Amino acid sequence: MTPLSWAITGIASVLVHAAYVHGSVTVYGNNGMQQPVGTDTASAASATNSSIPQWLADMPAFNSVVLQAPAIPSPAPSTQFTLNLQATTAQVPGISKQQNGTFLGFSIEMSVATQVIGVNASYLQVPFLNLMALLAQRGGTVPVRVGGNTQEFATLVDSIPDGKALEKDKEDTSNPTATPNLVFTSEIIYMLNNVSSLVGVKWYLGIPFNDTSNLRLGIAQAGEAILGSNLLGFQLGNEPDLYVSHGHRPADWNQTNYFEEFGTVIQALANEGSSVPVRNNLIAPSVSGTWTPESVFDTGFVTAYTGSLGALAVEHYPDNNCAAAFPGSTSAAPVVPQDVFPDYLSHNAGNSIVSAYLDASAVALAAGKPFIMFETNTASCGGFPGLSDSFGAALWGVDYGMIMAFNNFSQALLHVGGVSDTYNPFTPPPTNISTTKAWTVGPIFYSSIVVAEALGPTGTAQVFDLGANGNNIYTPGYAIYENGNLARVLLVNFVTDATGASTYTATLTFPGGTVPGSVSVKYLQAPSVAEKENITWAGQTFGGKFESDGRLKGNESITTIQCDSGAGTCAIPVPAPAVALVFLTDSALQDVSASTTQTFSTTAVTKKANTATIDSAALATSNGNTGADRQKLGSTSKGSSGASSMMPAVPTMFVLAVTGAVSAFLTLGRRR
Ligand SMILES: *[C@@H]1O[C@H](CO)[C@@H](O)[C@H](O)[C@H]1NC(C)=O
Ligand SMILES: *[C@@H]1O[C@H](CO)[C@@H](O)[C@H](O)[C@H]1NC(C)=O
Ligand SMILES: *[C@@H]1O[C@H](CO)[C@@H](O)[C@H](O)[C@H]1NC(C)=O
Ligand SMILES: *[C@@H]1O[C@H](CO)[C@@H](O)[C@H](O)[C@H]1NC(C)=O
Repeated sequence: MTPLSWAITGIASVLVHAAYVHGSVTVYGNNGMQQPVGTDTASAASATNSSIPQWLADMPAFNSVVLQAPAIPSPAPSTQFTLNLQATTAQVPGISKQQNGTFLGFSIEMSVATQVIGVNASYLQVPFLNLMALLAQRGGTVPVRVGGNTQEFATLVDSIPDGKALEKDKEDTSNPTATPNLVFTSEIIYMLNNVSSLVGVKWYLGIPFNDTSNLRLGIAQAGEAILGSNLLGFQLGNEPDLYVSHGHRPADWNQTNYFEEFGTVIQALANEGSSVPVRNNLIAPSVSGTWTPESVFDTGFVTAYTGSLGALAVEHYPDNNCAAAFPGSTSAAPVVPQDVFPDYLSHNAGNSIVSAYLDASAVALAAGKPFIMFETNTASCGGFPGLSDSFGAALWGVDYGMIMAFNNFSQALLHVGGVSDTYNPFTPPPTNISTTKAWTVGPIFYSSIVVAEALGPTGTAQVFDLGANGNNIYTPGYAIYENGNLARVLLVNFVTDATGASTYTATLTFPGGTVPGSVSVKYLQAPSVAEKENITWAGQTFGGKFESDGRLKGNESITTIQCDSGAGTCAIPVPAPAVALVFLTDSALQDVSASTTQTFSTTAVTKKANTATIDSAALATSNGNTGADRQKLGSTSKGSSGASSMMPAVPTMFVLAVTGAVSAFLTLGRRR
């Protein structure tokens, strides 16, 4: 999805045994254990904005554009309203299906996997592990997709001459829009599996669909062999509705052709026999708006391929920055971020996206398939500087996520690009400064945390849009039920008003239910929707640019609000701007409590060795679940219970040998 401005460096292959046998994958045990290490961030001086050199500030991911918060809407939303909360889902017709907690996962462009996730299987990015552990603790397993436009032109090879695990095809000059062709080795997939063995992440990969007469199924073989149950599925065809405009298919190529080619690949996978043993994990049609999902479904797609489909998916960005990012690539005038900022700051923003998918969501539900927003973010072609990296984007992400959950999407994956993108949930520093500066966690990452805590780890969360404040678009609210019972309420205030006059008070009532004595509230807050760095979740923050090792800093502050037992109400103030997450029971809070979150500390042992201290207790609770599952995790990290500055023992490593028919570098993907 993005042109990479930083070099891929320091990659070394660990492919030890490579057999080359057509059409098969062999997995060997290997006892050459290595310790994953992280970037040496502990010695990083916290950078302040003023200390960021110009060459860094020139990279979109680290831009210093600050927009103006939109004016207070006129008429202003009422600042006093009541929300009547039914006690159980039985009284809430139209409530969503049951949802998993880490609803907002991530989509990582394949070409940046070696910057974001790790360099190789034994050198993982500790900030990435910390960020994923934090979500897994709150909402359970984190779904992460490694793919995007680059997956279509990626080829699994048995080794890369310079020993790297992933490399852009430097030979190729045909790429008009900077998404590189890639070659990668199975080391990348071992790297993903290593992450899964440490934190509760599971993966989506993609099978290249750019040329179905020369299929490259190596990733399916290696993915299933190496990842096993840590593999969620394979996307087959990334945005096929754009193939024609990107020049990958003839002009008359249509939904029926897609249907037929899809069938070709299903047959080819079947022909793989036991080398691709799982047959029901394909994800499609992943259309991006040029074709509607219905137009693909009309070919009989879902019925014909139901046995092969693991989930139905779409992709969507509500706007694009292409004219500015690629001058001359479009006749459209560049979008002015300030002009479109208000479009993101209301309940209409998410609803206008999701309304186009209600029918598809119902089709998926009826077919018994999850429905996934497989790639999304504020705007394609890199996002809008000052908008995509603002607190406003965090509010947008929370509300959009909750709207998707309410409307029976099953998951949504926020896209992560490189330094040319402003919308990244997290961005590692350019490689050449990685020993002195740390990561940048974007505002939209907080959306993922808040939604994870709103839904919790039980897998039974059901969401209802309360139509709060007479359906006022600036003050949406949701009730969240777990195991059929009211558990949490999430309230958003999209307005920015430094005077405090736009703080609203939502008065919760509990008709037919029990009035809590008190409730706990966590706030997501910043001074303004335009704010880029001073963002807190329950008082904690990742800090500003180059300031994060993936852990929340500061003391957690949870507000206790006494309810009025006489009136049977709890009055919740929501500042402008903010999100308030109200925990109505103790367990609703404890289930997502940060006190159980363990992290991977990046304290450097020695800078030279580039090693990291891993808090060994981390592994005792890092399985992506709270409560009962902690015990289970303990066993996967046995040997780790003693304090240690080293990574505990981890499951046996494997070395893979793949074969095949991998060869040519192909033509280029276009970034969105
Ligand atoms: C993994 O990458 C690190 C950092 O570049 C390097 O030091 C190490 O040798 C690599 N490990 C293997 C097994 O290739
Ligand atoms: C990760 O992979 C490497 C090599 O593939 C292996 O040596 C190492 O033990 C693995 N680490 C973990 C944590 O699984
Ligand atoms: C979501 O699914 C539930 C069934 O679990 C259904 O009652 C509800 O109407 C669906 N919502 C939408 C928007 O389709
Ligand atoms: C890092 O690389 C950039 C070019 O991408 C260069 O401008 C900058 O000076 C380098 N910084 C250091 C500290 O080497």
